[in-house]
Amino acid sequence: MHIPVLYQEIIDYLQPKPGGRYIDGTVGAGGHAKGLLSASAPDGQVLAFDRDPDAIAFARQQLLEEEERITFIHASYAEMAQVGPQYGFLEVDGILLDLGLSSRQLADAYRGFSFSADGPLDMRFDPTTERTAADLVNDSTTKELAWIFSRYGEIRQSRKLAVAISRNRPIRTTRELAEVVVGELNMYGPRRGMSRKFRHPATLVFQALRIAVNDELSELETGLEATVTLLKAGGRLAVISFHSLEDRLVKKFIREQSKSCSCPPEQPVCTCETRPLLRPVHRKVIRPTEEEIVKNPRSRSAKLRVAERIAGDEG
Ligand SMILES: C[S@@+](CC[C@H](N)C(=O)[O-])C[C@H]1O[C@@H](n2cnc3c(N)ncnc32)[C@H](O)[C@@H]1O
Repeated sequence: MHIPVLYQEIIDYLQPKPGGRYIDGTVGAGGHAKGLLSASAPDGQVLAFDRDPDAIAFARQQLLEEEERITFIHASYAEMAQVGPQYGFLEVDGILLDLGLSSRQLADAYRGFSFSADGPLDMRFDPTTERTAADLVNDSTTKELAWIFSRYGEIRQSRKLAVAISRNRPIRTTRELAEVVVGELNMYGPRRGMSRKFRHPATLVFQALRIAVNDELSELETGLEATVTLLKAGGRLAVISFHSLEDRLVKKFIREQSKSCSCPPEQPVCTCETRPLLRPVHRKVIRPTEEEIVKNPRSRSAKLRVAERIAGDEG
C-alpha cells in the first residue's frame, strides 16, 4: 500500500477550495489527488499526470467516485505547460510534484526498482520508453557508468564500482547487479555522512541508475519552469523530494524565481528589470514529523518546499 507522504501538510499549504483547479504532476496511487478532490469538493478539478500507465490505471480505479472531476494524462509532468491549457488548466490554483517512485512500483519485482526481490533490471517509470537500466548497465562505457554513480548516487568509489560492473557484464537482473555492488562496495562500508542509518550499498547505486534511466533531473527542471507559466497569482507550488539533488534543484529554482534583481552585485544601480514570479511560503524546508516517520518509514527522507506565484508586476 502506498501511504501519501506529508499528506496533511500538502492540504494545509495548497489550501484546495471549491471551484479550484489543481495539477497533480505525479498521481501515483492517487492518495494526494484524493485529498485535493475532497478538499475542493463539490466542483474543484484535478489534472493528474503520471509516466507510468499502471499507476494511472490504479489511481483511476481508486478515484472512480470522482471521475467527473479528475482527468488522467499518461505523460511526464514536464509536458504540463503544453498539455494543461489543452484541458483548460491555465491559471491554476495549485501544483503538486511528489517525486520519485511509489511503494507499489518498489514492491513490484518485475519493475526492477528494488534489489530485495529478483527481477529484470528495468527501472523505467514508463515501460513504453526504450532504454532500461539493463541497457544502460550493459551498453555504457565504464566512464559513463562511473559518471552516473558519482553524479546521481554521490558514491565515492564510483570508478571502482563501474570497473567491477563492466567486468561482470552482461548483468540482466536486480539480484545480479546487487551482488556485484555488494562484492565491490562492502569493503568500503556505507558512505561517510550516510552512515547514521545503515544503507545497503546497493541503495545508492539503484537510485543513481533510476535517475539516469528516467532522466529525472532534467524532467524536474523542465517541470519546474512550466509551473510558473501555469499558476495564477496566489496559486501555490508544492514539491516533495526524496533525494538531495532534487531538493537542491527545487531550492535553487524557488530562490532564482523569487529574485527581484539579477544584476551583478558590483553594479550600483539595477538595470535588469527582473520581476520575482514566486515567493517562498516558509523559510525552512518542511520535514515529516517523528510520528509520520514511525507510521511510514518511507517518508523519512522527504523534504517539502512550497512557493506562491506572485503577479509579474509585484515586487
Ligand atoms: C511518490 S509517487 C506519487 C504518489 C502520490 N502522490 C500518491 O499520493 O499516491 C511518484 C509517482 O511519480 C511518477 N513519476 C515519476 N516521474 C514522473 C514524471 N516525470 N512525470 C510524471 N510522473 C512521474 C511515478 O511513476 C510515481 O507513480
